[in-house]
Amino acid sequence: MSTVNRQWLFRDFVEPDELPGPNNFEMVEGERPEITAGQILVRVILLGTSPAQRMYISAEREFHIVVEKGEVMQGRAIGEVIESQHADYEVGDVIQAGMSWQDYVVLSPDETDEHGKHVVEIEKFENPTRPLTTTLGLFGQLGCSAWVSMIEIAQVKAGDSVLISAAAGGVGSIACQLARVQGAKRVVGIAGGPDKTQWLLDKGLCDAAIDYKNENLAEAIPREFPDDIDVFLDNVGGETLDLALKHIAVGGRLAICGSISTEYQRPRPPGPTHYYNLIYRRARMEGFFVFDYLERWPEFIAQMQTWYQEGKLQLTDHVFDGLEHAPEALGSLFSGGNTGGCVIRVSPDPVSLPALD
Ligand SMILES: NC(=O)c1ccc[n+]([C@@H]2O[C@H](COP(=O)([O-])OP(=O)(O)OC[C@H]3O[C@@H](n4cnc5c(N)ncnc54)[C@H](OP(=O)(O)O)[C@@H]3O)[C@@H](O)[C@H]2O)c1
Repeated sequence: MSTVNRQWLFRDFVEPDELPGPNNFEMVEGERPEITAGQILVRVILLGTSPAQRMYISAEREFHIVVEKGEVMQGRAIGEVIESQHADYEVGDVIQAGMSWQDYVVLSPDETDEHGKHVVEIEKFENPTRPLTTTLGLFGQLGCSAWVSMIEIAQVKAGDSVLISAAAGGVGSIACQLARVQGAKRVVGIAGGPDKTQWLLDKGLCDAAIDYKNENLAEAIPREFPDDIDVFLDNVGGETLDLALKHIAVGGRLAICGSISTEYQRPRPPGPTHYYNLIYRRARMEGFFVFDYLERWPEFIAQMQTWYQEGKLQLTDHVFDGLEHAPEALGSLFSGGNTGGCVIRVSPDPVSLPALD
C-alpha cells in the first residue's frame, strides 16, 4: 500500500458564472498520516459528489459546510479502516462518513464539538458487498433522494404520468425506476443531448425522453403529456419547473429535489410564473432535504434491496476513475458530463468483499 497521500487543496473561489473544476483546486503530495489513541486511519475508496459541494467553495460562505482556502476539499466518502486505535473499529471495516479529497483520512470517532455533537458521524457497514459504488448510488444518498421524492413526497401510484428533470443524472435515473416500481403508466425524462436521451431509452428507464438542449421544452412537454402531468420530480428548476407547473394535472404533485439551473445564479432569477396552477389544479409542490430522512434509512435500504433482487432496479453509476479526476467530476454535474450517479474511485474495493447478488 502506498505511503504517499495525495490531497486536493481548495485554492480559488468558484464564481457564480463559472463551472467548478481543476482551476479551483491544487493537488499536493505528502506522507500517509499517522494516528494516535482514539483515532482510525481510513483508505479512501470512493468519493461521492453533490452539486451542493459547489457552495463549500463559493465566496458567499453561506452554506452550513464551507472549506477554507488551503484546506483539503471535503466530501462524503466510503473507505476501509487500515489502522485502528479505537475499540469500536477493526482493520477491514468498511465505513461511510464525511471525509475529504485525499488518499488517506484520519478520523476521531469520539471527538465532539462545543455542543457535545460528534464532529464526524460514521456509518459502519455490516455486510458490505462489491461494487461499493452502490453505497453512494442505489443504496446511498442518491437512491434515498429518489426514494423520498417518488414515494414520500410525490406518492407515485398506479396509472400516474411522471416527468423527471435531470433524468439521466444520479437522483433522476433512480427516480425513473422507482416511478415504474410504483406502477406509473408513463415515465418521461428530460436530459441534455441526444446521447443522454438515448441512454435513458436504451436502459429502459423512460418511455420517452426530451432533449432540452435541442428541443423546445414548451412544445415537447405538452406533446408528451396531452392529459397533463400527475407527478413532476424537479432537479433543475427555472423554466423546466415553470413549464411543469403550467401542465400539472388536477391533484398533481411536484417533488422539489434540486434547482441546479438557478440555485447558484447571482442575482437570483425570478420564480415560476405558473405557480397559481397549484390553486387551479389543487396541486401540491414540496421540497425535502434527504438528511432529514436518516431515521427511515433501514426502511429505504430494505425496500431498495428487495426491488433490486427482484430485478426491478438497475445500477446507474458513472465512475470517474482516479482521485486526480475529482475536480472534473464535480464540474461534470454542472456541464452535464455525467450519465448516472457521479462517483470518484480513489482506490479498489477490498477483494475480500462478496459480490452483490
Ligand atoms: N434535496 C436533497 O436532499 C438533495 C439530495 C441530493 C441531490 N439533490 C439535488 O438533486 C439534483 C440532482 O443531483 P445529483 O447529485 O443526482 O446530480 P446529477 O443529476 O447527477 O447531475 C446534475 C445534472 O443536472 C443537469 N444540469 C446541470 N446544469 C443544468 C442546467 N443549467 N439546466 C438543466 N440541467 C442542468 C445535468 O444533466 P443534463 O446533462 O441532462 O443537463 C447534470 O448531469 C441536484 O439539483 C442536487 O442539488 C438534492
